[in-house]
Amino acid sequence: MKDKYKLVGPIYDWLSAVYSGKSIHRCKVAMLDRLKPGDKVLFAGVGHGKDAVHAAKLGAKVTVVDLSETMLKKFQANLDKEGITIKIRQVHSDIMKVEEYEQYDMVVANFFLNVFDEAMMVRVLEHLIKLGKPGAHVVVGDFSYPTGNLLSRAFKVAYWYGAVLFFWAFAGNAVHKIYNYPESMKKLGLHIHDQKYYQLFLLNCYWSVLGRKPV
Ligand SMILES: C[S@@+](CC[C@H](N)C(=O)[O-])C[C@H]1O[C@@H](n2cnc3c(N)ncnc32)[C@H](O)[C@@H]1O
Repeated sequence: MKDKYKLVGPIYDWLSAVYSGKSIHRCKVAMLDRLKPGDKVLFAGVGHGKDAVHAAKLGAKVTVVDLSETMLKKFQANLDKEGITIKIRQVHSDIMKVEEYEQYDMVVANFFLNVFDEAMMVRVLEHLIKLGKPGAHVVVGDFSYPTGNLLSRAFKVAYWYGAVLFFWAFAGNAVHKIYNYPESMKKLGLHIHDQKYYQLFLLNCYWSVLGRKPV
């Protein structure tokens, strides 16, 4: 299993804080207030996983999945550093090989789907939806689809390509335009229940989209 995040994984959260201030973190926890104690939640491509820890502290039963050993080691190191003893299930796997269908009350994909080209992104999203129970929440936090005037759209696109080219060079991620996640989610049968935006320089650069599977 090739670890594409070997180089950049150890400093991933630091980079994200430099790049966005606190906006990315706020975006990643935006929809977790929907969780009830005992809910089962899966974080796909968890990375350092402060969002997953937040969910565990709210009383959810958390499973995290990541293909990168470096990222999971960093996740565990953060748990150790903060003295967090709540049990969080860690799975070192390609998310497409996780076949726990209809098991989760919430499936979270924070800054995860953007690593794939568009065809694969749709396949992965479809798979994540299958992991949710009927009526489950599916949350996508990521760069928001550029809207606004020409200047604001140009800034958002340039800002996105800065990140995407960096991760193409250092992690081999796909280079592609900013995805319109609510559109893809709707096409795959989800109802969009909420969208929250997070800003950089007063521009809505990130969003968290809450979809719901039909019951
Ligand atoms: C851009 S990082 C986002 C990490 C984290 N969710 C965050 O918001 O900070 C993408 C993560 O997805 C993981 N990943 C990439 N492809 C994967 C796959 N097929 N299955 C599971 N994890 C994967 C990477 O190892 C990396 O940790």
